[in-house]
Amino acid sequence: MSFVMQPSIQPYLRVVGSEAGSGFRADMHAALGAARRSISPKYFYDARGSQLFDAICELVEYYPTRTELGLLRTHAGEIAALAGPQAEVVEFGAGSLRKVRLLLDALDRPAGYVPIDISGEHLAQAAQQLRGDYPGLAVQPVVADYTQPLQLPAGPHKTGMRLGFFPGSTIGNFDPEQALRFLRMAARVLRGGALLLGADLVKDPAVLHAAYNDGAGVTAAFNLNLLARANRELGMDFDLDGFAHGAFYNSPRRRIEMHLVSRRAQRVQLDGQAYLFEEGETLHTENSHKFSVDSLRALAVEAGFTPGPVWTDPNRLFSLHWLASPA
Ligand code: AVI
Repeated sequence: MSFVMQPSIQPYLRVVGSEAGSGFRADMHAALGAARRSISPKYFYDARGSQLFDAICELVEYYPTRTELGLLRTHAGEIAALAGPQAEVVEFGAGSLRKVRLLLDALDRPAGYVPIDISGEHLAQAAQQLRGDYPGLAVQPVVADYTQPLQLPAGPHKTGMRLGFFPGSTIGNFDPEQALRFLRMAARVLRGGALLLGADLVKDPAVLHAAYNDGAGVTAAFNLNLLARANRELGMDFDLDGFAHGAFYNSPRRRIEMHLVSRRAQRVQLDGQAYLFEEGETLHTENSHKFSVDSLRALAVEAGFTPGPVWTDPNRLFSLHWLASPA
């Protein structure tokens, strides 16, 4: 079976349920109509996709989540000392409550928490849970696309620094220009504060391959769920058995690429329009860029940050960066 490589990605954002809206239909038409087919990984995250992603984070092969949690636990004291008292935490994406709790628990009397996410439903849940557990914390969710210019609410009166939090190496799901654009925006929003950023590191391709081709097939199910979602929400007729999960390390571009690979020549329809897939042709669904400590720091400098400490695990699988944003 031939494997057709596809370049380019769209920004990653967690979009749940109907909030994906008509964008999914238009983007699917655009993807299927292109010579090299690719669609944004944001469409992975319907309710089922979000569940599958949570399951990925628990996999033995998927080292990023537990490694980053370990870094946050081990270095919580140093992070808290850098942040100082009464920090206002701004999280880009309301992702893992587990991670932000580690941060909030370590900080000295955190004054506020501003989770920014495009999914209001997801945000409301996260905000509700944290309000219950941190009564003194001003929780101000913002429904917004954080890849676009942002206006944040005025924080509580007496706050210390504004501390951005962008864990999980979600930055790796952007292409390099999008990553730079995001970091520039973050540097502006966090001026006078800092960004705590998680970034996955370049490593033995076999480790990367295993992380995105797990034995239990959870990542395959996560990838294929995009087609199931298109059938459910767009009335398409993808035959899920007609596509295979494909994930490989593109070493010159330092990224894992995920594709849905057509097992045979077939046609699918969207709004009565037929699209043909040849055998081996793919729909490119995600890039996950890997960084060296230096390449990430260089990107941060280009965006206007002053890099501070970097924490990595003994196996140098993952990195956590303190990036100061000068006033
Ligand atoms: C959310 N993001 C950082 C994950 C990653 O590793 O790029 C998404 C993922 N895709 C497959 N497995 C996990």
